[in-house]
Amino acid sequence: MKKLVLVGSTGVIGSKVKELLEAEYEVITVNRSSGDHQLDMADAAATEKLFKKIGGFDALITTSGYGKWGSMDEHSIPDFHDGLNSKLMGQVNMVMIGRKYANPGASFAVSTGILAQHPVKGGLSLGMINAGLEAFVRGAALEMKNMTINAISPSFAKETMELMGMDSSAGVPAIEFAKLYKQAIEEGKSGEVYHV
Ligand SMILES: NC(=O)c1ccc[n+]([C@@H]2O[C@H](COP(=O)([O-])OP(=O)(O)OC[C@H]3O[C@@H](n4cnc5c(N)ncnc54)[C@H](OP(=O)(O)O)[C@@H]3O)[C@@H](O)[C@H]2O)c1
Repeated sequence: MKKLVLVGSTGVIGSKVKELLEAEYEVITVNRSSGDHQLDMADAAATEKLFKKIGGFDALITTSGYGKWGSMDEHSIPDFHDGLNSKLMGQVNMVMIGRKYANPGASFAVSTGILAQHPVKGGLSLGMINAGLEAFVRGAALEMKNMTINAISPSFAKETMELMGMDSSAGVPAIEFAKLYKQAIEEGKSGEVYHV
């Protein structure tokens, strides 16, 4: 059975990714506070230690990371850095360090988001992070010759809207995003941004 490392397995999207893929993959779950292994992916030294422990794997999916939601006036400079360290560099850490331990032919899929292309008020930090990560994915794809790397860019999950007490009628069920992660790690393309 192929080995899949899933960072963010308890989240709205990650839990659906786990549900969808666990029949076909040995899923190794990683979160800060639960799962097979506990890790803050922003911590590069701890990430290196974890991959040493896990050893070879065939796919890595990250459905994790924080970025501040709020207006410009509500953003301090450290708020930007928190998101850059977590959602952007955290996922970059997983790819940069993970690829040294990955089996030949391994697939990587990271999470960005619609705010990269479609700005809304309050989303400036996350939009910047998402766009940066998408640029990283395109650049990395040029160099990761025997592996693939792609981004999944969710719009707004129905379940997340419900958790936020919003009208969820325009939301996309998280399972539809999960299907994109499966497609991304299985279809052999690289440097793509998948949308639904
Ligand atoms: N849901 C949406 O509508 C939506 C829309 C656009 C983009 N996205 C993006 O899609 C990804 C998943 O979103 P989600 O809504 O499913 O998130 P979520 O429900 O908040 O879950 C996040 C998951 O990641 C883990 N995690 C968070 N930070 C981590 C870190 N630094 N290191 C390791 N694990 C960490 C959490 O577990 P612990 O707390 O135990 O660490 C949890 O399992 C995120 O990058 C998000 O920005 C989501």
